[in-house]
Amino acid sequence: MTSLSEQGAVVYADDSVLSASRALAERLGWPIWALQNPPTEVPQTFFLCYRDGCLKLLDKQTLKKGGLAVDVDPRPGEQHSYPAPKKDLLAQAIGKKTKSVIDATTGWAQDSLALFRMGYEVSCIERSPVMAELIADGFQRLAQKDWVLNRQLQTPKLMLGNAIELLAGLSDKPDCIYLDPMFPAKRKQTAATRKSMAILRDILGDDLDRADLFEAAWQATGKRVVVKSPDYAEPLGGKPSETYQGKLLRYDVYLK
Ligand SMILES: C[S@@+](CC[C@H](N)C(=O)[O-])C[C@H]1O[C@@H](n2cnc3c(N)ncnc32)[C@H](O)[C@@H]1O
Repeated sequence: MTSLSEQGAVVYADDSVLSASRALAERLGWPIWALQNPPTEVPQTFFLCYRDGCLKLLDKQTLKKGGLAVDVDPRPGEQHSYPAPKKDLLAQAIGKKTKSVIDATTGWAQDSLALFRMGYEVSCIERSPVMAELIADGFQRLAQKDWVLNRQLQTPKLMLGNAIELLAGLSDKPDCIYLDPMFPAKRKQTAATRKSMAILRDILGDDLDRADLFEAAWQATGKRVVVKSPDYAEPLGGKPSETYQGKLLRYDVYLK
């Protein structure tokens, strides 16, 4: 497998995003080129591009149009009030009395953002510099939403690095550490999940150090660790204290 830095390039559609695109390419050590003027040979398989008001991850099919960004709007069916009610399985697993949560595997930040909308104090860790750029762009857009501005809410803090190391260096223990590492896929996923998670798996691979991550989270948490896993996977930390079973996934809760 080629390294991630060889897989990616920054592309830009027009000069209005040129300086932001250059800065992004420099941070990632990626080449940069204009969308209208691609090099004769394009060895890369993934691209980042400022398009439609956000930073998007593209592959060769979506190079001209489309792409994936961190979606900061409520999920379909989610109540638009703030704080949103803590009633789904995720909230039950995190705990209604829990205040501070560290999401140690932020990815597309969909769980972090759902927790943020429910009023939890959320901090995020992500080790992929590419995902961290996409998340940071999403959080900047979140900070501009009326409901965030009007309430003067602080958007989640994002830390770039391996959570196994970052959790060991925390000065304060959060109430909860949340883990959703990449498990090997066993079945076809739904269209939306397939798109965003499959692309993540393609660029990052499975998280083979997830057992060490659980251990680090267990040492660093104040009260609980919650692990989201596919229903076919063995519990990451042995027998959980509680389990919240969904259709195709479950949340295993480990209480201190
Ligand atoms: C399955 S995705 C998480 C999806 C996320 N829950 C969401 O709602 O979009 C897993 C993410 O965790 C990150 N990750 C896995 N192990 C990590 C670690 N030890 N430290 C930091 N990030 C990690 C991966 O890079 C990947 O982006």
